[in-house]
Amino acid sequence: MTDDLLILHASELVTLKGPRRARAKTEMSDLAIIRDGAVAISGGVILDVGRTESILKEHEATGIETVDASGKVVMPGFVDPHTHLVYAGSREFEIELKAKGKSYLEILQEGGGILRTVKDTRAASPEDLFHESARRLESMISHGSTTVEAKSGYGLDKKVELRMLETIRKLGDDYPVTLIPTYLGAHAVPPEFKEDPDQYVDFMVNEVIPEVAKHRLAEFCDVFCEKGVFDVEQSRKVLMAAKTFGMKLKVHADEIHSSGGAELAAEVGALSADHLAKPTDDGIMAMARKDVVGVLLPGTPYSSMSKEYADGRRLIDLGVPIALGSDLNPNCWNVSMQFTISLACHKMRMTAAEAITAGTMNAAAALGLEKKVGSIERGKHADLIVLDVPSHGHLPYQFGTNLCSVVLKDGKTVWERQPF
Ligand code: NIG
Ligand code: FE
Repeated sequence: MTDDLLILHASELVTLKGPRRARAKTEMSDLAIIRDGAVAISGGVILDVGRTESILKEHEATGIETVDASGKVVMPGFVDPHTHLVYAGSREFEIELKAKGKSYLEILQEGGGILRTVKDTRAASPEDLFHESARRLESMISHGSTTVEAKSGYGLDKKVELRMLETIRKLGDDYPVTLIPTYLGAHAVPPEFKEDPDQYVDFMVNEVIPEVAKHRLAEFCDVFCEKGVFDVEQSRKVLMAAKTFGMKLKVHADEIHSSGGAELAAEVGALSADHLAKPTDDGIMAMARKDVVGVLLPGTPYSSMSKEYADGRRLIDLGVPIALGSDLNPNCWNVSMQFTISLACHKMRMTAAEAITAGTMNAAAALGLEKKVGSIERGKHADLIVLDVPSHGHLPYQFGTNLCSVVLKDGKTVWERQPF
């Protein structure tokens, strides 16, 4: 096989070489860094990884494309395992409501929040929905995300939920990024079912989930299991129905109150439980026992003006494999896994190495992609980013700017910083 591309002289090649599963406890600190590192890529796949000197002995550097990463960090592209990428409109005016002390659930209960975005998304044309979402996706790619999960959940009726999932499929076809679609009909109770939420649950189970499955529009099913939104029993019903159609499961768990979400995720065999600001000790232990990945989303308390960040340090020490996601949504317009990693270090007491593992390998595991992406190892997709910093410790340290200089998807440059 001939090489297509050689990346040479990375000051740190952050490989994350190791077991192809979510990493827990001290494993999260081992980035398996190679100094003066190099990667050989062929056919979109990683062919060889090592020190530049030894890679150059094995691979002919003349006549093929090379990237000189001197003074820079090369690491796996970010895997963003939790986003609400597709929606119409915006909610910048909620900053004022939140600043005046309104909570996230109060805004939702007054018909704002998710329900406001449901109105905007139902009213948008399919073309507008696609283009608004595409702008965000372009920005995510330029910030180094090469695999992105994306949820429905702003249609809530059958037609617009399917339209959202079709939009995710089309975005995945049109952009150089792997998009993983999730059905999140159980995101809020829509106005037409306000008086009878159980009837909405039956509607999802009997009418929407079979249709989503028939058209293979979602790989995952997720529910917002939260006091005042969907309780454990309702959430279980939705998840079990999706499971019978072969969908993998996720839970928005214990974001605002201890609501039994972590326990439910472990019970139904979910790949991840997400948010986890308020899990019970029993829920944490159940997750650790069942290897449920905890996806932490520090952008959410940041944008919600809440002090209640998940305790990443404690969850790691208790053995829950931790991933990080942007939670991009109209409450939290965060396209950047770089900013997410910085927040995790500063607000959740995670180290740079742990946060990097959480945004790559463990995020891949939260999507069932641990054998394909998330580390720089022979045979994996050549999804790589070159960061304009001398060591990985600078990733959380320098925040508020895009540190990417090159983003590679399947061995092809899909974004590059333009010189000043
Ligand atoms: O993960 N908490 C529930 N859902 C989203 C927010 C969606 C929205 O506010 O529009 C989340 O934070
Ligand atoms: Fe979410």
